[in-house]
Amino acid sequence: MKTEIGRIISGSLTDGLTMRITAGADLEAIKTGKFLSIKGNRHRFFSLITDLSLAVTNPDILLFPPGPEEKLLNELLQQRDIYATAILKPMLMLGSDQQPVPVKTIPPHFAPVFEADAKEVALIFGDEKDASKKFFNIGVPLDMQTPVCLNLERLTERSNGIFGKTGTGKTFLTRLILAGLIKNEKAVNVIFDMHSEYGLQARKEGKEQSFVKGLKTLFNDKVVIFSLDPDSTRRRGGSPDVEIILPYQAIQVEDILSLQSELNLHATAMEAAYLIVAKYKHEWLSTLLAQGENLKEFANSIGAHPESIAALYRKLKRLERLPFFTNAAVGAHKDHSVIDQMMEYIDKGINIIIEFGNYTSTFIYLLIANMITRRIHKNYIAKTERFLGSQKASDEPKKLMITIEEAHKFLNPQAAKQTIFGIIAREMRKYYVSLLVVDQRPSGIDEEILSQIGTKIVAQLNDEKDIQAVLTGVAGAHNLRSILASLDSKKQALLLGHAVTMPVVVQTREYGEDFYRAMADTVSKKQIDELVKELF
Ligand SMILES: Nc1ncnc2c1ncn2[C@@H]1O[C@H](COP(=O)(O)OP(=O)(O)OP(=O)(O)O)[C@@H](O)[C@H]1O
Ligand SMILES: [Mg+2]
Repeated sequence: MKTEIGRIISGSLTDGLTMRITAGADLEAIKTGKFLSIKGNRHRFFSLITDLSLAVTNPDILLFPPGPEEKLLNELLQQRDIYATAILKPMLMLGSDQQPVPVKTIPPHFAPVFEADAKEVALIFGDEKDASKKFFNIGVPLDMQTPVCLNLERLTERSNGIFGKTGTGKTFLTRLILAGLIKNEKAVNVIFDMHSEYGLQARKEGKEQSFVKGLKTLFNDKVVIFSLDPDSTRRRGGSPDVEIILPYQAIQVEDILSLQSELNLHATAMEAAYLIVAKYKHEWLSTLLAQGENLKEFANSIGAHPESIAALYRKLKRLERLPFFTNAAVGAHKDHSVIDQMMEYIDKGINIIIEFGNYTSTFIYLLIANMITRRIHKNYIAKTERFLGSQKASDEPKKLMITIEEAHKFLNPQAAKQTIFGIIAREMRKYYVSLLVVDQRPSGIDEEILSQIGTKIVAQLNDEKDIQAVLTGVAGAHNLRSILASLDSKKQALLLGHAVTMPVVVQTREYGEDFYRAMADTVSKKQIDELVKELF
């Protein structure tokens, strides 16, 4: 028998319903973000608590509050005159046909409210055991045990965002979701792994130093590591599948555009870059870097402003110190470039982690991510067009999801207009490519891009601007605001958008031994081999 938590006494569809909490209920166990079910006459209304308050039937009572020793008076008051209320925001309702539909009506006065049960949670969010393999357990509602699932198929239909201030568990959440996508083969992933936290292992903060397994360790056959810093990968006990070497010729002015604010480059410097390209094509960068003393004459020869050329030269000169860039002639790397190798893996459905090792500067991260993504995207446009032409199922490209951290650096209003990541976010995976953006400062992301994000997973945020940013374009945002503000500082998140049937707060699934077991195939190949040996 479910225990009643309270009854609805007033409220409205837009502002939420007021529940009077049952006398004697453990008030301090009822928290904002809690997932409740209101039993109307014909519908069940699934709601989240967005606010809590204290009330009295008669204000005079407050003039003479009982002392702690007046136990009897206290008890009497609690039975009738003093009580607590909660605001419940209904997010979804279920009719007798058990189909979830948007809330268009309200329950009557005194409708009873219960904690949602396991069956209801599974009905709403899907069940991981479903044969379609599209549901992935991401955590449990507050103070409950039944898993809330993300619909992975819907997740891959749009670009998505994982937000939260530092240390809230964004990277852990991202790794969980990527593991789900890899295990259930719902998308191929390219992960720009700035801090080497996705591949082999990652540090887990806590009382004592410990490590968790990375995606390569969990899914050896389905993941390859491309490394900019192979020595660093080796030091961590792995070996990269591919060492990244890129020719200068692969750098286009568009890739530098995204670095404009990072390098403090003036727009005129970019114009100068285009002038070099007009004359030297692919060799623009190697030609510029070879100038040294002759910058002034060089500027004159292409009709650029000498100061702009000098600035460009000064800022880009640092590329020469990076060992993963070579100044080889175009032909030398054309035949089998690193990016061609990536495309081959992607075609086979193998996921790619790009490790930056000790090259953790934003400059390098932005440049490399732009270069690689631009090429992959171009390739995907060609694939999509081929598929649209032939309409053969075998030509349909695999869905690709690109994960970037520090997303506001790629998608701030200035960069979003010009760079490849802005293009991908806006075109809504017309070409089968979408983004998974991870960021601690969502207010830095262009508003239009934010509004295109399909599913948002939001851990604690304190900054008012950031809260506002993640809630732009969300219906009933003012109700969710208080929930966001009261999340724990770790391992809790509000899920909302395309991949969840209704907004819900979860306690994130623990990334540890149980999770590794769940990700391993029920019977591994090794176990089968052993069984076969035993039998024959
Ligand atoms: N699902 C989880 N399972 C186990 N531990 C977790 C989980 N989520 C978070 N943690 C703990 O919280 C710590 C911080 O998480 P994480 O590194 O993902 O934060 P972050 O939001 O990415 O921080 P930053 O912005 O600094 O990158 C982890 O080291 C781990 O100890
Ligand atoms: Mg992180």
